[in-house]
Amino acid sequence: MTGELSPIDKAKFVAARRAADFVEDGMKVGLGTGSTAAWLVRCLGEMVREDGLRFRGVPTSTRTAELAREVGIEVISLDEAKWLDLTIDGADEFDAELNLIKGGGGALLQEKIVATASDQMIVIADAAKEVARLGAFPLPVEVIPFGWQTSQALIEELLISMDVMGRNSSLRMNGDAPFVTDEGNHILDLHLGRIGDARQLAMILNQVPGVVENGLFVDICDKVVIGYADGRVETR
Ligand code: 5RP
Repeated sequence: MTGELSPIDKAKFVAARRAADFVEDGMKVGLGTGSTAAWLVRCLGEMVREDGLRFRGVPTSTRTAELAREVGIEVISLDEAKWLDLTIDGADEFDAELNLIKGGGGALLQEKIVATASDQMIVIADAAKEVARLGAFPLPVEVIPFGWQTSQALIEELLISMDVMGRNSSLRMNGDAPFVTDEGNHILDLHLGRIGDARQLAMILNQVPGVVENGLFVDICDKVVIGYADGRVETR
């Protein structure tokens, strides 16, 4: 499954492999999105096929759903599952309090719903994702297409009163066209540099008309499994 991996992929793989051991027979498990989560899905697929692991997965994107089915995982919807034992997902940044920035892959809405509907959320990440303060990674905010420029202007205006370093934002593109999420929305990436109060910012952003959800995950993650390029793994 792994062949010759680059150092970054090795780090992602070892984190994913370790986290896969938290999945037990009979569980309902949220399956994250992104390159680290893809390693997790492949590892779990192998455990299903070779070790007889039996669990049901709730994917957080169409990409993850396709991969999960491909590797032999039984896929159900969140509505079928209702509540999950565990969600395992990647992150773009995590801090010492295990608050996160997510949504680099554009799946933050389903990811936040699924993680919130779980007894436990475990983040899998390479060591480069750890930060002293969130905000260097542009914060994704999902907005509906109607009037997105108005939502953008309102967000930039409210950032004036927030404890952040930068205030610019950009519409995420996919080639020449705006990026479209699984829910048919767009993503604004906020270039904040440093976020002073993640909890307050997360709450205020969601009050802007047109905003569906933002990529700040505050008090959602319970554990982080960090992978290193030399194969070491650390769990916090
Ligand atoms: C997708 C996400 C991903 O989990 C996040 O972008 C990390 O991705 P990767 O594992 O590829 O670094 O939030 O919306």
